[in-house]
Amino acid sequence: MRAVVWTAYGPPDVLQLREVEIPEPNDGEILIRVHASTVTAGDCEMRGLKLPLMISLPMRLYVGIRRPKRMNILGQEFAGAIEAVGKDVRRFHEGDEVFGISGFKAGGYAEYMCRPEHPKGMEGVLTTKPVNISLEKAAAISLGGMESLHYLQKANIQIGQKVLIIGAGGSIGTMGVQLAKHFGAVVTAIDSTSKLDMLRSIGSDDVIDYTREDFTRNGERYDVIFDVVGKTPIARGMRALSNTGIYLMANPRISKILRGRMASSVTNKKIVFGNTVYSTERLDDLKKLIEEGALRVVIDRTFPLEQTAEAHKYVETGQKAGNVIITVRETHK
Ligand SMILES: NC(=O)c1ccc[n+]([C@@H]2O[C@H](COP(=O)([O-])OP(=O)(O)OC[C@H]3O[C@@H](n4cnc5c(N)ncnc54)[C@H](OP(=O)(O)O)[C@@H]3O)[C@@H](O)[C@H]2O)c1
Repeated sequence: MRAVVWTAYGPPDVLQLREVEIPEPNDGEILIRVHASTVTAGDCEMRGLKLPLMISLPMRLYVGIRRPKRMNILGQEFAGAIEAVGKDVRRFHEGDEVFGISGFKAGGYAEYMCRPEHPKGMEGVLTTKPVNISLEKAAAISLGGMESLHYLQKANIQIGQKVLIIGAGGSIGTMGVQLAKHFGAVVTAIDSTSKLDMLRSIGSDDVIDYTREDFTRNGERYDVIFDVVGKTPIARGMRALSNTGIYLMANPRISKILRGRMASSVTNKKIVFGNTVYSTERLDDLKKLIEEGALRVVIDRTFPLEQTAEAHKYVETGQKAGNVIITVRETHK
C-alpha cells in the first residue's frame, strides 16, 4: 500500500511516500481502508519534536529516541471504511464507515490502518461516521471536537454567559466556537485578520484581531476564557475574567499552570487544565450534533496523500483556517 512514512524528527521533507505492507488485523481489531486524514498543528509539532519538554521527552521515549520507530506513520485523525474485521470483533462490520483519532498509534497517512474495535487510553477512539457528511469532513471532527467538548463541558456554560476563545480559527477553536454557541453562550472569537469572516460565519457574535488589538486591555470581562493556543500571559488573561470566571487552558506550560494556580488561589476565579479524555461517548455526542446540523466542519484546503509534506509546510505557515485534509482515496460524497 502507499503510505507517507515519518523517516526522522525534522522538517516536512522527512515525510516520504513509500510502498509498505498492508497491516493485518489481530483478534479484536479492524482493518480500515483510509479515505482521509488531516494535518493538525499537533501533527507538525510531533513531526519536528517542537513540543514542551514535558511532552517531547515521554513522546521520544515511546516513539523512538533517535528517530520514529514505534510509530512511523503520522496522521492522528482518520476516516474510512472497514475492509476486514479480526476474530471476535462485534462492534463493527465490513463496509461500515468510521472516523476517529488514533493518538500515539497514528497511521492516517496510509491506505490502510488497523485499529482495536475498543481502543483504550492512548490508542484514541473511533465510531461510525455521521450520515450527513463526507468522509473527508468526518476525518476532521475528532481532535478539535473532543478537545473543545472536554474543556467547555468543564465550564458548565449557562445561557447568555460571555465566552472568549483565543485561537478560535484552527481545528480546536472552530469546534469550540460552535459548541459554545450550542451551549447558549455569547461568543467572542480571537484570531488573525484572514480568519475573522469565517469565524463570524460559524456563529461568533464578536471577533477580535489579535494582531491589532489586545483583549486584555479593552476593559471587557468574560465568564469563560478558552485559551487554545496558550500564548497569552496568564496574569493578563485572568484580569479579563469576571470575578467568578473560569479560565480553560488547553495548551499550558508548567510555569503558566503554577502562575495561574497562584493567581486563582487569592480570587474566586478558577483555572482548569489537564489532558483531554478521549471517549466513544464524547465522539458519539459530536456525531449527533453534526447530524442535527448544530456543528459543521470547516475545511480550508485538501491535499492528496502524495503531497502530505506540502500540506505540513502549508499548515506551518499559520494560514490554515479550520482544517487541512489529506485525501488518501477519492470518495463518492
Ligand atoms: N493532540 C493534539 O494534536 C493536540 C491536542 C491538544 C492541543 N494541541 C495543541 O493546541 C494548539 C492549538 O491546536 P489547533 O489544532 O487548534 O491549532 P491550529 O489549527 O493551528 O489553530 C491555532 C489558531 O490560533 C491562532 N493563533 C496563533 N497565535 C495566536 C494568538 N496569540 N492569539 C490568538 N490566536 C492565535 C492561529 O492563527 P495564526 O497562525 O494566523 O496566528 C490559528 O488560527 C496547538 O499548539 C496544538 O499542538 C494539540
